Amino acid sequence: MNLFRTKSVEQSIQDTEEPEHRLRRDLSALDLTVFGVGVIIGTGIFVLTGQVARDKAGPAVALSFILAAVVCGLAALCYAEFSSTVPVAGSAYTFSYATLGEFPAWIIGWDLILELALGAAVVSVGWSGYFVSMLDNVGITVPSALANPPGVENGIVNIPAIVLVLLVTGLLILGVKVSSRFNAVIVTVKLAVVLLVIVAGLFFVKGANYTPFIPEAKPSPSVQGAAAPLMQELFGITPVSYGWLGVFAAVAIVFFAYIGFDIVATAAEEARRPQRDLPIGLIGSLVITAVLYAAVSLVVVGMQHYTQLSSAAPLADAFKAVGQPVFATIISVGAVAGLTTVVLILLLGQSRVFFAMSRDGLLPSWLAAVHPRYGTPYRSTLIMGTIVAVLAGFIPLAKLAELVNIGTLFAFLVVSVGVVVLRRTRPDLPRAFRTPLVPLVPILSVLACLFVMLNLPVETWLRFLAWMALGAVLYFAYGARNSRLRGRRTGHVPFTKG
Ligand code: ALA
Repeated sequence: MNLFRTKSVEQSIQDTEEPEHRLRRDLSALDLTVFGVGVIIGTGIFVLTGQVARDKAGPAVALSFILAAVVCGLAALCYAEFSSTVPVAGSAYTFSYATLGEFPAWIIGWDLILELALGAAVVSVGWSGYFVSMLDNVGITVPSALANPPGVENGIVNIPAIVLVLLVTGLLILGVKVSSRFNAVIVTVKLAVVLLVIVAGLFFVKGANYTPFIPEAKPSPSVQGAAAPLMQELFGITPVSYGWLGVFAAVAIVFFAYIGFDIVATAAEEARRPQRDLPIGLIGSLVITAVLYAAVSLVVVGMQHYTQLSSAAPLADAFKAVGQPVFATIISVGAVAGLTTVVLILLLGQSRVFFAMSRDGLLPSWLAAVHPRYGTPYRSTLIMGTIVAVLAGFIPLAKLAELVNIGTLFAFLVVSVGVVVLRRTRPDLPRAFRTPLVPLVPILSVLACLFVMLNLPVETWLRFLAWMALGAVLYFAYGARNSRLRGRRTGHVPFTKG
């Protein structure tokens, strides 16, 4: 059994080259940036800001947002090279298959489920929080038992989250494409809401809320035992909230707010001038979101003392707290519209990864069947949508955002290594975009990802390792035997200009 057999880049490219699947190269740097901002802005800023400021970083959460952007920027430069070298369907999975071999590729594909499917579940729970807050503003109260999972605020099931996931799954099966025009509308709404928070919020900022900016580190029940960051446990530091260690722990969580830029990289095939436009699109969307995130978090912690921020809808609730329910309503409406596309694109990415894996025989090949009428991988989409809906409806997800992050960071790390490997093994390949300063940038990217991963809680590591162990077992039970290094054709791509 050869665990490290690779699928040649040529073979992967051949799989995607049927004329009906060839993509037009007509995305500009601006299109890519708009797409990026559309995918990136979501639950991270709209939801996590509140709980992270309250429990980990205090007003300094803005610093955490900036540090997380730097980590993502390094990974973005690596993603841009791989996506311009190896075809897109399957993202990091396909790339690993071409560089590191089949077993690592399977592990990455398995790992991407954490980023994409679990990520979609987490975002749909964030959507539900804002949806309920929006209904509440117009006088409709959703009983908390029907908008929370068991174990949270007397919850039984989170119905809004389930309904959203099922609707999005239906759209994906019908083969809806996120056109750049539709995306531009959603991006405008999101940006308008974010700017509204910043500008309107400024009037309610109280200077006193900023001192101390980095609250003094102190032990807290929320960071003890398995909830303590691995780094603090490894180095025998008494686990603390706040202080610089708190800022670092917060980086590991607000990292979630940037997830999605890697999906922009998968539009490489469609970029007009990849060498120029991809880095502009990737770095541009990261810089824009980093500035917005830092500004929003500064305003929000200025409006309400960080210890009082809400967990479900902190931006809207901060406006309620200062007696401005109208602003709160506008923000909730914007969040509800904006988070919908994030769920859609994450699930779309997931269905493509499953599709690529089953086409390669690592998952049962009947999953790869394309619907005769809609031309979409409907079986994998339906199964995945159902699982995500159950997760979103019944599992308390607040903790699982951290699992999404560790999975994503691991994929970034592998991609960064893969860029260097592929430069060695296949220097001949045409690369529409080349990562600058190889191997320095990939090495920095690996170190940065590792550092952030170490700042995740011990329990997150345990869940991650358990997930990966399960993946390894499945590979030997199924994939290793059924793998075939030949492909059919790929399905749709995440994004087309329209
Ligand atoms: N970055 C996306 C969000 O914050 C996943 O919701």
